[in-house]
Amino acid sequence: MSGGSSCSCCLTSNRPPPLSLFSAMIRAVSRRLFGPLLLLGFVQVALTRRFEVKAGNNTCLLAEFSANFSVSYETIDKKGATVLFSLPDDAKVNPSSNCNNMTAPLLVVSFGNDHSLSMNFSNHGASYKMESLTIACNESDGGLFPNASSPGLLVKTSSSVEISAKVNTTYSCMSDSTVHMENVNVTLSKVRIEAFPPNDDFSKNETICHADVTPTVPTTTLVPTLTPTTPPPSIPVRGKYNVTINNGTCLLAEMGLQLNVTYTTPDNKIAVKVFNIQPGMTISNGNCSSDRAFLQLIDQSTTLNFLFVVNTTTNKFYLKELNVSTSLNLSTKSKEFTAENTNLTYLQTTLGKSYLCLSKQMLKVNQNFSINAFELHVQPFKVDNAKYGTAEECQMDKDDMLIPIIVGAALAGLVLIVLIAYLIGRKRSHAGYQTI
Ligand SMILES: *[C@@H]1O[C@H](CO)[C@@H](O)[C@H](O)[C@H]1NC(C)=O
Ligand SMILES: *[C@@H]1O[C@H](CO)[C@@H](O)[C@H](O)[C@H]1NC(C)=O
Ligand SMILES: *[C@@H]1O[C@H](CO)[C@@H](O)[C@H](O)[C@H]1NC(C)=O
Ligand SMILES: *[C@@H]1O[C@H](CO)[C@@H](O)[C@H](O)[C@H]1NC(C)=O
Ligand SMILES: *[C@@H]1O[C@H](CO)[C@@H](O)[C@H](O)[C@H]1NC(C)=O
Ligand SMILES: *[C@@H]1O[C@H](CO)[C@@H](O)[C@H](O)[C@H]1NC(C)=O
Repeated sequence: MSGGSSCSCCLTSNRPPPLSLFSAMIRAVSRRLFGPLLLLGFVQVALTRRFEVKAGNNTCLLAEFSANFSVSYETIDKKGATVLFSLPDDAKVNPSSNCNNMTAPLLVVSFGNDHSLSMNFSNHGASYKMESLTIACNESDGGLFPNASSPGLLVKTSSSVEISAKVNTTYSCMSDSTVHMENVNVTLSKVRIEAFPPNDDFSKNETICHADVTPTVPTTTLVPTLTPTTPPPSIPVRGKYNVTINNGTCLLAEMGLQLNVTYTTPDNKIAVKVFNIQPGMTISNGNCSSDRAFLQLIDQSTTLNFLFVVNTTTNKFYLKELNVSTSLNLSTKSKEFTAENTNLTYLQTTLGKSYLCLSKQMLKVNQNFSINAFELHVQPFKVDNAKYGTAEECQMDKDDMLIPIIVGAALAGLVLIVLIAYLIGRKRSHAGYQTI
């Protein structure tokens, strides 16, 4: 692609400059007549492109995707306009891309006349994640943004991009996913991304996005049937998972864990798999600082990550992030199941105390995944001498204790009522006998 040509004009603007007025006329006419056609043709040739970010010889990011953009902008005539375009062939990795010491890869893809699409990644121990996606459009580019009233850079960022995967797996999402940023929409599809690929190439193991795994439920007739797989297992054994760093225990945790996974079978049925974490076969890891504590549990093919944080305003800690990856042992597409929620507020407890819930508690992560926790006791911060602080008990435990009290009180009340009724009845009948 010849350098400097703008996105939508790639096919129309490669004309010699001397006939500029004439070519401008042709351009205007051809855009009006053939604009949609040219755009369509252009979209069809748009290929999935591969981008790589390196530090020395180490690759910190590999990305392959196609992207469509829809940008609405202000025009001189105040009517406003919307342009649609695909990531053009001249898209390339901008030198400002960076591995940031192999911790937070940044990919900047530039295209056309100073337009760019950037993706920021972060490393969360066992997983990596796209933190944000930024689009910068050069509205001075009259080829792409005709009659723009505010020439200059239009920059939009979104941090609600649901791209995350386990390390040493390729994030794969063939379905379209659109990131909305006010007047700009970016639709990504045929995405394959891996941060910190171990062999400078995509890992064979994949983390498949929800959109690819969950079937689009047909509106009529073919409602997927629920196939109960195995009978629910027994109550899980309580495990002890403490985190010790620098010879000091910084996180105390004891719990029985039962995982509840809803997934789609290869024949498009929805199945539920409920299984227990076996403490004897589980390896726990983690680390803690004064305001973040991380606990990882690995039981054979299942990895669970818990992130606890502190809200300094309320002086409470809570479980903010939970993610899981587990093998479903299926031969086809949904071999690896992953689920994540980074916006939880579970187990809120005053700093310095511990959270205790003896009752079964369901921690829902998303519609396809939940954890049933049994006899949960946890303290991720301010652990003194490897001992739990005062326990703050969950509402359910309090309710459980309330039930016998209520039942007792109700029974006592009933006895009292019966007694009073009996006494009144006796008095009445006595009175009755007297009148006879
Ligand atoms: C990169 O690899 C080349 C060839 O394998 C080697 O000569 C060079 O020293 C390496 N550079 C770094 C920074 O590791
Ligand atoms: C881009 O948009 C065109 C037209 O709407 C569509 O046919 C094409 O599949 C889209 N491509 C991507 C990568 O979303
Ligand atoms: C934007 O586009 C205009 C016109 O194509 C070009 O002159 C300018 O260098 C581009 N870059 C920026 C940062 O404005
Ligand atoms: C598992 O999750 C499904 C769907 O949320 C739910 O209907 C079912 O009752 C759960 N089973 C257990 C044992 O928690
Ligand atoms: C801390 O808690 C307060 C009160 O519930 C809430 O408004 C605030 O958003 C929380 N801050 C963080 C960082 O979660
Ligand atoms: C998956 O299959 C392997 C080998 O067939 C087996 O050892 C393992 O227990 C299975 N895992 C689950 C979760 O069913």
